[in-house]
Amino acid sequence: MNDKEQMRLENIAETSYEIFALLKQRYSPRIFKENLLNPTHINQLFEAVRWAPSSNNLQPWRFIYGEKGSNAYQSIYDCLSDFNQSWAGNAPLLILAIYKTNLENGDENFHAPYDLGLSLGNMAVQSQYLGIGLHHMAGLDWKKAEKEFNIPTGYHIASALAAGYYGGDTDQLPEDLKDQETSERKRMPLSEFAFKNEWSS
Ligand SMILES: Cc1cc2nc3c(=O)[nH]c(=O)nc-3n(C[C@H](O)[C@H](O)[C@H](O)COP(=O)(O)O)c2cc1C
Repeated sequence: MNDKEQMRLENIAETSYEIFALLKQRYSPRIFKENLLNPTHINQLFEAVRWAPSSNNLQPWRFIYGEKGSNAYQSIYDCLSDFNQSWAGNAPLLILAIYKTNLENGDENFHAPYDLGLSLGNMAVQSQYLGIGLHHMAGLDWKKAEKEFNIPTGYHIASALAAGYYGGDTDQLPEDLKDQETSERKRMPLSEFAFKNEWSS
């Protein structure tokens, strides 16, 4: 396998403590192999979502996805911010991540975004296992997307995702994105967010 066919090894996280290999290897690519995703792999991504925990097992997540070449793909792409449009067309699959905003009694389900996030965490691990990179995108005109896809009242588009097999040629990215794609990955240290016994600043 050459460089253009695999995830970039230099993007593997330099963790302070050892973690599960798939988590270490995950990163958000802006370049992908051109191949469409195998339909079974797509189903496996959603099967992983299906088994995520959710508050009261309400499973408030919903997804719309479109393969490159389809009208749905183009419609999702057209709702992305200019920045995201500059690279997301490299992905063979675009996804809208949606959650149901209310409980059956009409009250707001405050946990629904949390549940959607957890489900996407499941998808992230499964996708990594299959060699598929996911890139979340908050940069989208969700109002336009909700209209375009006739999303019913009571559901909200939280984000879009670009998905495709890791690989592809980073030289196809504009220079600034190529730099971002290959630059060192940084994180806060544990001490800045995991507090033992009391809040610590
Ligand atoms: C909710 C969410 C929204 C994001 N929105 C965008 C986006 O609009 N455009 C983009 O290029 N990356 C976006 N990202 C990707 C993050 O920038 C990326 O996850 C972060 O820089 C860490 O890099 P890594 O995922 O490669 O570890 C988003 C990520 C998340 C979780």
